[in-house]
Amino acid sequence: MQTKYIKLTDLTEKEAKAAIEEAGQIIRDGGLVAFPTETVYGLGADGLNAQASSRIYAAKGRPSDNPLIIHISRMCQVEEIADHIPEVAWKVMEAFWPGPLTVILPKKGCVPDGTTGGLSTVAIRMPSHPVARDLIEVSGRMIAAPSANSSGRPSPTMAEHVYEDLQGKIPMILDGGAVGIGIESTIVDFTGDQPMILRPGYISEEMLGQITGQISTDPAMQSKKAVKNVVAKAPGMKYRHYAPKGQMILVEGLEKDVISRINREALEKTGQGYRVVILGTEESLPQYVAGYRLSLGSRQDSESIAAGLYRLLRECDAFEADYIYSESFFEDGLGNAIMNRMLKAAGYQLISLGEKD
Ligand code: TXA
Ligand code: MG
Repeated sequence: MQTKYIKLTDLTEKEAKAAIEEAGQIIRDGGLVAFPTETVYGLGADGLNAQASSRIYAAKGRPSDNPLIIHISRMCQVEEIADHIPEVAWKVMEAFWPGPLTVILPKKGCVPDGTTGGLSTVAIRMPSHPVARDLIEVSGRMIAAPSANSSGRPSPTMAEHVYEDLQGKIPMILDGGAVGIGIESTIVDFTGDQPMILRPGYISEEMLGQITGQISTDPAMQSKKAVKNVVAKAPGMKYRHYAPKGQMILVEGLEKDVISRINREALEKTGQGYRVVILGTEESLPQYVAGYRLSLGSRQDSESIAAGLYRLLRECDAFEADYIYSESFFEDGLGNAIMNRMLKAAGYQLISLGEKD
């Protein structure tokens, strides 16, 4: 299959509109379109068409028990696909939509099992990215979309990443430039007694708590170790995800201890002939002495760290790194989401050097 790659930023407004209309027609016909959202690029299909959403699984090589998020553009669409919606869920949707938040609600019969991985619940998100919103509107469909990477690779934050993973497998990619946030939406489950965060993201526990009062976090998410016998409630969180091809190791502790430990490991591994990447920060990078050194950004600016993380993990692959040593981050607010993704990328390999900065 030939993949049509459309760079929206090179087009006039009229041409861009025509391209999105063509994309909408592909969705109506049951095909796939990759498109930008404010979090990561999505791979969209008609969410209420089981055959269309099955194409997503085939293109990504995604396990079929891992359900999809349905993207909407209007509040009234929630009740078309979800039932028994608690008041607190409405409040959260009103506070954070359109935006990087996904809600889990009991599903209605019109949502096919193929979209929800056989679950009786459905994940719903109203994105804020103008291209995503236009595509949903123009297609006249609710769009099921996972991140537009091959299963197991870091999520795409640029259309070029989508092309790398899915060229020849999907009919169209809409390139709307680099995304703003860079990590996937926060997922909150409203089907239990109390709202529960299943995946941390840009919308933090503190922000949610201001609306919901009580809120809990999936126990599978609270530990730095992959806890045995605790199955993550979001099926996708159990897979080794966001992963670069090399072995990634996180190091935490006082800054000077972290730097000297990473230097020691990197010198040893490069001495043995391995290809080594060090993921440091703007502040620390000059102090590293070995390996291919990349900056995650300034420690003071967690938004830029989130925005660049997946691109850097892909850069580790392009460099064919055997080992990737990375600094750790404070687990507050957005830092919590960043560390969640980094720990998963590292397969939970973490060296703790005692005291932290
Ligand atoms: O920011 C995002 O959410 C991006 C953009 C494209 O919107 N999408 C995204 O989709 O990250 P995906 O498929 O890569 O991740 C969806 C996550 C998976 O972990 C999946 O298991 C979980 O949502 N999920 C979907 N439906 C669910 C449900 N009914 N119950 C629990 N978890 C669910
Ligand atoms: Mg994904």
